[in-house]
Amino acid sequence: MSKRLIIAIDGPAGAGKSTIARRLADRVGAVYIDTGAMYRAIALWAIRSAIPTDDSHRLEVLAQNAHIQFSKGHDRILLNGEDVSDFIRSPEVAGAASEVAALPAVRRVMVTLQREMAQRSSIVMEGRDIGSVVFPNADIKIYLDASAEIRARRRADDLTHQNVPFDLTSLTRQIEERDFRDRNRAASPLIQALDATYLDSSNLSAEEVENEILKIIRAKTSNGKELVH
Ligand code: DC
Repeated sequence: MSKRLIIAIDGPAGAGKSTIARRLADRVGAVYIDTGAMYRAIALWAIRSAIPTDDSHRLEVLAQNAHIQFSKGHDRILLNGEDVSDFIRSPEVAGAASEVAALPAVRRVMVTLQREMAQRSSIVMEGRDIGSVVFPNADIKIYLDASAEIRARRRADDLTHQNVPFDLTSLTRQIEERDFRDRNRAASPLIQALDATYLDSSNLSAEEVENEILKIIRAKTSNGKELVH
């Protein structure tokens, strides 16, 4: 690959970001980075350490001390050497992640780490503030959305798949609360960057969304033919 590409995918929970970001990363030979997993890892450590999710000072220190790594395939996340990929998927950790992510001090630490991760290779990074804050000059910015109902159903399917127990009514409520917090916090709220392309995945298959984004990548990169086969 001749030029390093930064592809930013933002959007609310359950919009399909992870599935699409993984597929794109495979397709263009980039590294996939799930920034939500990083906030979830911090939240998990906070819960385990009994630190309240609004204790900004202690959580800043915890974030600074957290050793976060993605494993080779970038599908597993290690916190201080422990594979916590399964633990971070519970609804409890999801809620705490959204609270911890509202703290500017924690975000500063995570954003620095996220920028470092893009220094060596092309990346497809997904989150809430990638196109707006982490990489305002990203080559490609996608804002991926879907209806609230579809997003709740997708999260339910994910949890069923991971054998995590849940109740659909409270899952839907939790997603709504989390969305509200993520969109309305003062620090780097979830917004569509002005130059991002909006895609609604409600009625599209993963393959259709992937193809739409590949078209955008081809159109925006001068050497797109080399990058996207
Ligand atoms: O994408 P996710 O559901 O795994 O993210 C968990 C929480 O982390 C989500 O509620 C919002 C927060 N988050 C964030 O604030 N900024 C990011 N770049 C990624 C996630």
